[in-house]
Amino acid sequence: MSVTDISADPAAAPATPDDVPGWFFRADQEAFTHLLSSQNAAGIDGDLLELGTYLGRSAILLGSYLRPGQTFTVCDLFDLDAPDDSNSAEMSMSYRETLTRRAFERNYLAFHPELPVVVQAPTSVLADGRIPAGSCRFVHVDASHLYEHVIGDIKVARDALAPGGVVALDDYRAPHTPGVAAAVWEAVFTLGLRPVLLTPEKFYGTWGDPEAVRKQLLARDWRAEGFRLDDETIAGQPCHRLAWDDAEGGRGAVRPPRSLPRRIAIAVLPPIATRGVRSALRAARARRAA
Ligand SMILES: C[S@@+](CC[C@H](N)C(=O)[O-])C[C@H]1O[C@@H](n2cnc3c(N)ncnc32)[C@H](O)[C@@H]1O
Repeated sequence: MSVTDISADPAAAPATPDDVPGWFFRADQEAFTHLLSSQNAAGIDGDLLELGTYLGRSAILLGSYLRPGQTFTVCDLFDLDAPDDSNSAEMSMSYRETLTRRAFERNYLAFHPELPVVVQAPTSVLADGRIPAGSCRFVHVDASHLYEHVIGDIKVARDALAPGGVVALDDYRAPHTPGVAAAVWEAVFTLGLRPVLLTPEKFYGTWGDPEAVRKQLLARDWRAEGFRLDDETIAGQPCHRLAWDDAEGGRGAVRPPRSLPRRIAIAVLPPIATRGVRSALRAARARRAA
């Protein structure tokens, strides 16, 4: 899959997962695919959990790796009120215009015969033990960007994961999400989270044996497929950086710098809003060229 198709009609059922708006790009699609399919090939059993689902772009991929007898749970506010004012502001700025539970369900059912278990609530409810401890092999944390929420989400992931399970934490280094960065690195330095892979958008870690996960990751020849893979060491802990450079300058690509307004819009606005900004910028360029 490639970068979100921002021209997709939000009211129509998606024909491909790329038609679903969201923030789930090539390097992470492939990292999820590789980690989940390696777990399946190795016969590793366990449930899947996603905190922050939006319209289902990442959930649709996660659901493809669910095996009989396993449970996939997604937790999102969808069209519910946020638990506090800061979260409410974040919801209004980025998601309210497009997001309903119904739209998520329609998108998901376009690719899977059954819905996952849907918890429509603040992710803090998951701390009540409804996800059995040690039951999950993969957890994706991509909900609120506020420090107070993310540190709670990370603890939910830690308790839910089986030994050797992997957590993917979104927006750990974006300019507009310093609270996520604070929570992620706090987890590394005080909660025993071990980094294994860093993409431009997501941090992947484990509370199990990081060497085993790294070995799984390096079983694939990423460089031969055109990915950029670099060795990294963070406070003595080895891990890797992975990025995708596509010919059109997709996420992770080395490309000519964008104008400041364009970079700001793409960094902070959801795809549905960047569509308008991109059209306006295209029109302005056309006017200048005429
Ligand atoms: C960045 S989007 C998720 C994107 C999605 N994973 C994808 O790849 O397209 C963040 C989601 O988190 C949800 N969210 C924000 N704060 C939340 C909270 N406190 N509890 C539950 N969900 C929350 C929003 O409703 C939104 O759907």
